[in-house]
Amino acid sequence: MLTSIRARLTLTYIFLILAVMGVISVFLLNMLENYHLDYQKETMANSASLVAEISSSFMQRDSDLLILSAMAEDMARQINARVIVVDSKGMVLGDSERVGGYFGKSLLRPEINAALEGETGSSVQYSQSLEQKVMQVAVPVTLEGEIRGAVFLSASLDMIYDTLGTVRRFIITATILALVLVGFFAALMAKTFTTPIEELTSAARQMAAGNLKQDIPVRHEDEIGQLTRQFNHMSSKVMETNRQLRDFVANASHELRTPLTTINLLVDSLKDLAEDPGVREEFISDIQGETQRLIDLVSDLLDLARLDGQEGKKSPQKALNLTELVRGVIQSVSSRMERKGLTLDYREKNTTLPVMANPDELKQVLNNLLDNAIKYTPQGGSIRVEVRGGAREAFVAVADTGSGIPGEDLEKVFERFYRVDKARSREQGGTGLGLSICRELIAKHQGEMWAESQEGKGSTFYFVLPLLDVNKD
Ligand SMILES: Nc1ncnc2c1ncn2[C@@H]1O[C@H](COP(=O)(O)OP(=O)(O)O)[C@@H](O)[C@H]1O
Ligand SMILES: [Mg+2]
Repeated sequence: MLTSIRARLTLTYIFLILAVMGVISVFLLNMLENYHLDYQKETMANSASLVAEISSSFMQRDSDLLILSAMAEDMARQINARVIVVDSKGMVLGDSERVGGYFGKSLLRPEINAALEGETGSSVQYSQSLEQKVMQVAVPVTLEGEIRGAVFLSASLDMIYDTLGTVRRFIITATILALVLVGFFAALMAKTFTTPIEELTSAARQMAAGNLKQDIPVRHEDEIGQLTRQFNHMSSKVMETNRQLRDFVANASHELRTPLTTINLLVDSLKDLAEDPGVREEFISDIQGETQRLIDLVSDLLDLARLDGQEGKKSPQKALNLTELVRGVIQSVSSRMERKGLTLDYREKNTTLPVMANPDELKQVLNNLLDNAIKYTPQGGSIRVEVRGGAREAFVAVADTGSGIPGEDLEKVFERFYRVDKARSREQGGTGLGLSICRELIAKHQGEMWAESQEGKGSTFYFVLPLLDVNKD
């Protein structure tokens, strides 16, 4: 039970209340008791002095002893205390309690002794006979500068302890009330913490069980609220990734099946048409074409798998001259352009553009862009390649006068398997993965890739790479 936040919070509050109220009540009751006792002592000493003054005049004559007792009785009624008058030897000359009193007896108590020494004697005691606490005060009776006796007062402290008892009961009641209230509110407050946490726990359990869509309501904008928001965000991210993965597998399977089906059909037909060498040649070359498509597709898929696997990691990079690299790639595709009757317009603003890169990956990017440009530009068109350096970046553009890309597809062409015209791309031997690989490779080099296009007029693909600061180390 103590493992729950609710229980711990409630218990902590209860403990705090008890501690605070305990300390307060001890101090308060002590202070009150002292105050009342001091006050009582002062009042009694004053009364005793008054009685002493009156008694002193009576003490001169022995015959006045009876009057002394009557006076003591009278005073006792007025100040609500027992009044005893003793002579200098401690003999009781007058006692307000006539029946069973000390009259005629010797009464030598410490308070009286102190009074006979000229001081005010006092004490608080528990009286067995009265079954309550009493205060005793004694003062000297002086006559002509001589101590002739003492006046002893004894009064019940019942009133004071009744009052203190009432205060104590009041504090206890208040403590119980505070405990109930605090217990209730602590439990309520703990609930506002624990409810969302319990919801998060159950949602996490659900996600682990495969139910990825979780949307927990955010109740407060506190730390738990932020956690909940992040959790919901994570849930939608996981769902999105899951969806992409499913789409990817479906797309890849579909792309793999198409050439395989074709190959299967061709092989079947080949069996029947095996006699005709011309047809056979044609079929075999078709099979070869489809096999090549499969190889291209699988190698693109492997590239992507490699890129996904090493997210954040870098493949070996070195300082190289981007201009030189572009020049080399163009040379390798120039014969293909010529064959298709395309003119090349190569513009080189800077002969050296130092970048930190993996040359194979950059070549792959350029090859893909040039391959697309060649594929999607009809005979007689032209391809322009531009390389130049900015303040901090190297900039490459590959432009063509081909079919162009409709505006709504311009961003989508960078998605995996996305092709504007499926049939046309397939006919050209495309996999739909080229541009997505390009973009990921450029991103890996801290660069960016984008496209501009006008349908029917042509497209331009750009990428920038950070220039290597040659002056730096
Ligand atoms: N230069 C271009 N001109 C017109 N369309 C292009 C060009 N480059 C790419 N595309 C479009 O973008 C799609 C995706 O390109 P890519 O990822 O390289 O796949 P693939 O070339 O295998 O079809 C292509 O199918 C095509 O529709
Ligand atoms: Mg391509």
